[in-house]
Amino acid sequence: MQQEIKDIVLEANLLTKRYQLGEHLVQALKEVDFVVKKGEFVAIMGPSGSGKSTLLHLLGGLDKPSEGGISLAGNQLSLLDDKEATLVRRHNVGFVFQFYNLLPTLTAEENIMLPLLIDGQKSTDHQERLNRLLNLVGLADRRDHKPDQLSGGEQQRVSLARALVTNPAIVLADEPTGNLDSKTGKTIMELLRRSCDEMAQTVIVVTHDPLAAAFSDRTVFLLDGRIKNEIMFPPDMPGAGRRHMIIETMETLNS
Ligand SMILES: Nc1ncnc2c1ncn2[C@@H]1O[C@H](COP(=O)(O)OP(=O)(O)O)[C@@H](O)[C@H]1O
Ligand SMILES: [Mg+2]
Repeated sequence: MQQEIKDIVLEANLLTKRYQLGEHLVQALKEVDFVVKKGEFVAIMGPSGSGKSTLLHLLGGLDKPSEGGISLAGNQLSLLDDKEATLVRRHNVGFVFQFYNLLPTLTAEENIMLPLLIDGQKSTDHQERLNRLLNLVGLADRRDHKPDQLSGGEQQRVSLARALVTNPAIVLADEPTGNLDSKTGKTIMELLRRSCDEMAQTVIVVTHDPLAAAFSDRTVFLLDGRIKNEIMFPPDMPGAGRRHMIIETMETLNS
């Protein structure tokens, strides 16, 4: 039992999120329970507006739930003030966004190191880590390039290295392949998969692409703010079989 609790890196209980828009009350999430184990690779799928981004933002402490609790790497987020929550997020979560969110005036290398600098650390103390990450994402020869001198796929690889630079317990990615062609998107998913397999990184990816979700160990389906279904893939199941199961489940949920 103790072992099980220790293995849980993220736990959400009865998560509800409401947005008040003028006279309209939007219920983006409805009593969602969600548990992620250390080293797990989870995909979250669902149609546009089903609450995927809302869930990811709440899980990463970027936004607060209307009701319900989140435990992130052993920290109960609702018990923390804003300053404490920022530190927990900074030390435990790496984010990857659809549009990369790189700072345009900084080089690839500077963008990657930024989370460490924000945390008050010196980049000279972390050159080895920087080189390892540049090699992992295949950008050692692009380190001095600014974002507008990089392709979309290269920019997303920089943002992935930036997400990993603090050795976070968990990487949260919102549609990381949404702005990329399918071949480049596959490279990004392979890198996420590698960091999960080789560095025991926990990864949660929001995507509407079955090709991307097929890289996960488990795919969760959101509909109208609720988790409607979940597939746990047998470890030895090939990608094509996974995609088939994902597409079938999507069709069942849409009908
Ligand atoms: N800041 C916000 N204010 C009001 N409504 C919002 C806000 N963010 C999201 N919503 C609404 O919440 C629902 C879920 O949104 P979102 O989580 O972005 O869905 P998804 O990522 O699955 O497309 C949608 O109906 C959306 O319009
Ligand atoms: Mg979204």
